[in-house]
Amino acid sequence: MPTNTAAWIDEPYADLTVRDSPYPAASPTQIIVHVRAVAVNPLDAITQSNGRLMYRWLTYPVVLGEDVAGVVVSVGGQVTRFRPGDRITAYAVGMEKGRDHIAEGGFQEFVAVEERLAAPLPERMAYADAVALPLAVSTAASALFQADNLSLAHPSRNAPSRDETVVIWGGATSVGANAIQLARAAGYCVIATASPRNHARLRELGAAHVVDYRDPDVVEKVVAATRGTSTVGVLAVATGSAEPCVAIAIATGAKRVALASPSVSFYDQPRRGGLSAARARIIGRLVTGNAVLQVRCALRGVRARFVWGSSLMDNEVGRMLWTDYLPSALADGRHVAFPPARIVGHRLDDVQAAVDRLRAGTSAEKLVIALSEDAPAER
Ligand SMILES: NC(=O)c1ccc[n+]([C@@H]2O[C@H](COP(=O)([O-])OP(=O)(O)OC[C@H]3O[C@@H](n4cnc5c(N)ncnc54)[C@H](OP(=O)(O)O)[C@@H]3O)[C@@H](O)[C@H]2O)c1
Repeated sequence: MPTNTAAWIDEPYADLTVRDSPYPAASPTQIIVHVRAVAVNPLDAITQSNGRLMYRWLTYPVVLGEDVAGVVVSVGGQVTRFRPGDRITAYAVGMEKGRDHIAEGGFQEFVAVEERLAAPLPERMAYADAVALPLAVSTAASALFQADNLSLAHPSRNAPSRDETVVIWGGATSVGANAIQLARAAGYCVIATASPRNHARLRELGAAHVVDYRDPDVVEKVVAATRGTSTVGVLAVATGSAEPCVAIAIATGAKRVALASPSVSFYDQPRRGGLSAARARIIGRLVTGNAVLQVRCALRGVRARFVWGSSLMDNEVGRMLWTDYLPSALADGRHVAFPPARIVGHRLDDVQAAVDRLRAGTSAEKLVIALSEDAPAER
């Protein structure tokens, strides 16, 4: 049996530690990937900061990590789209309820992923670039296309150009940049917000207009940019984006807002158990902020729902994204990996520092651990 190594979190709030892990076995629908690059997500940092507040079903020790890219080494009996040697990127769902919190965690050398949450990589696409995609593109697609979120028309090669607008707050986030591309590929006009240094790049990705979210008149400017079209949905990405996005929905007549981010930063608390003053403040602001927002939405006929990136795991949006759209869109360059990778390490021991760096803030860059660009021998 080959050996395996993972970056483990042994208990809530603990630093990650690297040691042996069991070599995963593929279920009939899974593939085993030799991981060549992983990326860190706010989800990893939030889970570490929050202890058991969110992912209550995790029984520690577990392996975190959602974004992987690497080489297929073996496949389950029902897998038809991949074979050993294929270069892929995939969404590792080990943190989700009912999943294997060890074998399916991304921060390890060999991981089990579902075939339906993987896409082949074009030859020119490096693992370190591709690994920006999985959680972010899944969250973006869940928000834009699921019936319980914005319920927009799906992307397709020949999507008609629509006289309808989607507003994406936080266009330079990993989620937002993928959402811009997906909404454009579905034919919508996109208005986004971002820091000025990212405006040109977001226009290249497909945004028709980008507004600085720090501008005191940002809501009015976004609303003005939508004039002449019907606004069919607003996607709120980044802490604090919910309130302005609901204001935009009310002003434009959009009936739906998808909320990707909590209204408070979970990083503003000590990384240890117990009810500190900071934690009590965060929970209080979270509960009251959401209650006020929902009342405001109800009074104005707007539906604001939280989005969960993994919710497409078993539905038609997941199939559309990972099986139909991404393979061809990556191959012909219609969809690109964004943000660009900042390689911050080459070993699993570097993942904790990357998570800490993410907490400190990034701008339009994906923090990536590039384990190697070499294709390993087939097993
Ligand atoms: N619900 C889910 O399932 C799910 C899944 C994934 C992520 N998320 C959440 O989505 C958010 C983004 O995650 P990510 O991985 O995409 O982030 P990321 O790539 O790390 O985002 C970094 C970007 O955030 C932007 N930003 C910071 N504050 C902002 C604000 N107030 N308004 C607009 N943009 C702002 C910055 O844009 P500029 O450089 O332009 O300033 C920066 O480039 C996080 O809150 C994360 O927790 C939720």
